[in-house]
Amino acid sequence: MSDPYRNLLVRLWRDHVVQFWPLLIVAFVLMVIEGSTLGAISYLIQPLFDEVFASGDASAVTWVALAISGVFILRALSGFGQRLLIVTVGLRVTTGLQSRLLSHLLGLDARYFQDNAPGSLIERVRGDTLALQGAASSTLMTLGRDTVSVISLLSVMIWSDWLWALLAMAGVPILILPLTILQKLIRTTTRAAREAAARLSTQLDEVFHGMVSIKVNRLEQHEAHRFDTEVNGFLAAQLRAERGKAANPAIIDVIAAIGFLAVLVYGGQQIMEGDKTVGEFMSFFTALALVFDPMRRLSAVSGQIQAAMASLERLYDVLQARPTILTPAQPKPVSRGDIVFDNVDFSYGDSPVLHQLCFTAAEGRTTALVGPSGAGKSTVFSLMSRLVDPSAGRITLGGVATTEADLDALRDSIALVGQDSALFDETIAENIRLGRLDATPQEVRAAAAAASVLDFTDEFPLGLETRVGPRGASLSGGQRQRVTIARAMLRDVPVLLLDEPTSALDARSEQLVGEALARLSRGRTTLVIAHRLSTIRDADLIVVMDKGRVIEQGTHDALIARNGAYARLHQLQSAGVTTPL
Ligand SMILES: Nc1ncnc2c1ncn2[C@@H]1O[C@H](COP(=O)(O)OP(=O)(O)OP(=O)(O)O)[C@@H](O)[C@H]1O
Ligand SMILES: [Mg+2]
Repeated sequence: MSDPYRNLLVRLWRDHVVQFWPLLIVAFVLMVIEGSTLGAISYLIQPLFDEVFASGDASAVTWVALAISGVFILRALSGFGQRLLIVTVGLRVTTGLQSRLLSHLLGLDARYFQDNAPGSLIERVRGDTLALQGAASSTLMTLGRDTVSVISLLSVMIWSDWLWALLAMAGVPILILPLTILQKLIRTTTRAAREAAARLSTQLDEVFHGMVSIKVNRLEQHEAHRFDTEVNGFLAAQLRAERGKAANPAIIDVIAAIGFLAVLVYGGQQIMEGDKTVGEFMSFFTALALVFDPMRRLSAVSGQIQAAMASLERLYDVLQARPTILTPAQPKPVSRGDIVFDNVDFSYGDSPVLHQLCFTAAEGRTTALVGPSGAGKSTVFSLMSRLVDPSAGRITLGGVATTEADLDALRDSIALVGQDSALFDETIAENIRLGRLDATPQEVRAAAAAASVLDFTDEFPLGLETRVGPRGASLSGGQRQRVTIARAMLRDVPVLLLDEPTSALDARSEQLVGEALARLSRGRTTLVIAHRLSTIRDADLIVVMDKGRVIEQGTHDALIARNGAYARLHQLQSAGVTTPL
């Protein structure tokens, strides 16, 4: 086992398992009891035959019968107890680990979630922890109970006849090599199966989120077919893993066959000559017949450990991911002031998006960003709120570079209304309150009024207490937008970032919300992105972007007078091309 995994096991043990040590010890004691009952049963076979059946000793019937049924009841109780304890500990460890994984994931960069699809992360947080729990519980059970069973049964065999016992195990050394090879195979095939499971979850996630476009584009068959392909891939991978696991006990049965053969060939004569009592003989063979079952399970243990390692590796990948966007060691306090983009370069991976971007958004004023789709306007907002950091240049707020400022304080000073309204499956009021968790119901209502949310909630029977459905699905696009605007209003912070905040609204609501936003942005440093120039003509500065560069800037009048890109765009729009309803 390589070092990182050993470290991870140690960490898992220390953080999630060790606190359950009293339960684990009790479970282990019960396992030892359960395991040793098998030896006791095969041991009791000898008096059963020799004293009851052969000698016909009537008083022996009672005690042998009581002893054997007593052993079975002990086995039932200890087996029940240890299973219950192991499952309880297993579930507690798993749920603890799931919470920890989520907290860890929440701390990672926004970037991480673009590189890792939601479905695959869900599969890690849920699927891999459960797979780990299943494998770990059965490993613990097997190790505790079956080791003791094997030892007790082997003891009975050795006590009956040590040479026979040795012969019975003749197959073990022959099959050690194939068993070892099999373990490696199980690890790689299980890893492949887990990855296939993650792809399945990713696709399911996409399908359920994209249901509307699937239906209107009539992609049902296409998606079903795509899923079939993935599911077949998963099936093949999982079957390969299961084949490996199933081969394990088969190898043990081969060992059993060799063992029986050796004992009978060598010992058959002795039996016929009557060197042994029937009881000794039966006792030995009962133990021999019973020993292969726990041995089978023990042989599967290392396969289970390999399977658990495959899940553990995937959990390790998540836990070792570190955020890069952090508060620096000596953060500077965030103050109010101008927002300055100073020669900012930025690329997503290898594709450059912004080139030496320069502009200043004056404190307390409204600066508008306009430009064609893909120009990099939303990226400016991602940089401002430090969802990503520039590859060159600086972004400053009140003279302090965003990368040198306290990250929490920076984000606390920004309200963002994004292009897609992020609503959660809670009530409208709760969704608004996400802007400021300690807001009073009155403040929430005031924000809802200002963003014209009350205009539509007044018609709902539950008003602001209406649930919005998963990702806000039961509201219209314009209603969702107004809820996110209300959230930003509640936030009451010095910097406002508005990414097409009214794009989904009809003319009347746009006017109402526009007025509310104008009131809101008064005195705040506001950056607003808009495609409809009519909404930003009063901005103090208009920055025109194209292909990641600033191509012109100025007030509406100055830009019109300049007769450049902005003037052309304005001409197009006033000709009615994109005039709203
Ligand atoms: N997560 C991402 N990964 C890779 N490339 C991205 C990512 N987000 C945006 N881009 C690319 O960056 C460029 C700028 O995108 P951005 O979202 O900033 O454009 P925009 O000006 O806001 O456009 P729109 O007006 O359509 O919203 C685009 O070419 C886009 O393909
Ligand atoms: Mg955008």
